[in-house]
Amino acid sequence: MRIGILTGGGDCPGLNAVIRAVTRKGIQEGDNILGILHGWKGMVTGQHEELTLRAVSGLIHRGGTILHTSRTNPFKEKDGGQKVVATFKRLGLDALVAIGGEDTLGVAQRLFAEHQLPVVGVPKTIDNDVSGTDVTFGFDTAVSIATEAIDRLHTTAESHDRVMVLEVMGRHAGWIAVHSGMAGGADVIPIPERPFDLDEVSESISARHARGKSFSIVVVAEGARLDVKNAEGLVKQSEELDEFGHVRLGGIGHFLAKEIEERTGFETRVTVLGHVQRGGSPTAHDRVLATLFGVRAHDLVREGKFGMMAAIVNGRIGEVTLEESVKELKTVDMDLFDVAAIFSG
Ligand code: F6P
Repeated sequence: MRIGILTGGGDCPGLNAVIRAVTRKGIQEGDNILGILHGWKGMVTGQHEELTLRAVSGLIHRGGTILHTSRTNPFKEKDGGQKVVATFKRLGLDALVAIGGEDTLGVAQRLFAEHQLPVVGVPKTIDNDVSGTDVTFGFDTAVSIATEAIDRLHTTAESHDRVMVLEVMGRHAGWIAVHSGMAGGADVIPIPERPFDLDEVSESISARHARGKSFSIVVVAEGARLDVKNAEGLVKQSEELDEFGHVRLGGIGHFLAKEIEERTGFETRVTVLGHVQRGGSPTAHDRVLATLFGVRAHDLVREGKFGMMAAIVNGRIGEVTLEESVKELKTVDMDLFDVAAIFSG
């Protein structure tokens, strides 16, 4: 078979490990693997390169994506779907593996449903917000990086008797904040799933200091929302929308730090972790997960199970329909958040 593979949306550690897995398994079984460059943009322009064993050697530990990525939405363009199908035919492809988050997988699902394109998906994102899979690759790495940052902030917070606010990514899901906050022993963890009240946050920090603690750690998800009536409660970097209709989040950390300092009187500093969470080598866990996903995606192609996505279902590698994976965002399980809350304040 001639199989195309692309990476779309924000990059994340483990993309190269998936590319390597699909290519190695494919070549072992006599397939030709074509790397489509720059995500869905490459399926419009036709930019591609042949993936040989040599091209994918030394990739398991490398962050980023050798295929490059973009946030291009082909359906924003007139006849975008048809253009993708035309490129698919022109390149002589039999199948396409799309590695991405909700947006990239959403395009894959539409191409399958509306144009009968033989496509399978692989769920990637540091945000861990794709439905139908217990976990996405990249998440464990982002949590490890954020946890290390919290550990480092802890010692300096303690030395200076300060409140430290760490803003982490995650878009409209608080997975990174809850996991890293629990692992790092954060005292307050505002997340999008549970709008927060500024007075409550400040009072819990004041109460902690009244009990004798001289410092506090706040881990706030970039998409955390203030509990305000008749308003969104989001802090945004810009109102500009990308091709999938997303605003750029960010800034809640600085906003929160200022409010905490004013309300509690404690010196407060901010760290915005940003793209550091997405760069560099994947953890061992993400390398293995990415490899399992890549091999399963190739199996799905060989079995003709198009319109499906490789997934971890109840702890085991399997698959779900792309339709199910993009139906809704997978947000933080409130039972988990309630456990984290036991340790707050
Ligand atoms: O979806 C991954 C993610 O890193 C989000 O956590 C974040 O909101 C967004 O991408 C940042 O996007 P960009 O790379 O365009 O700044």
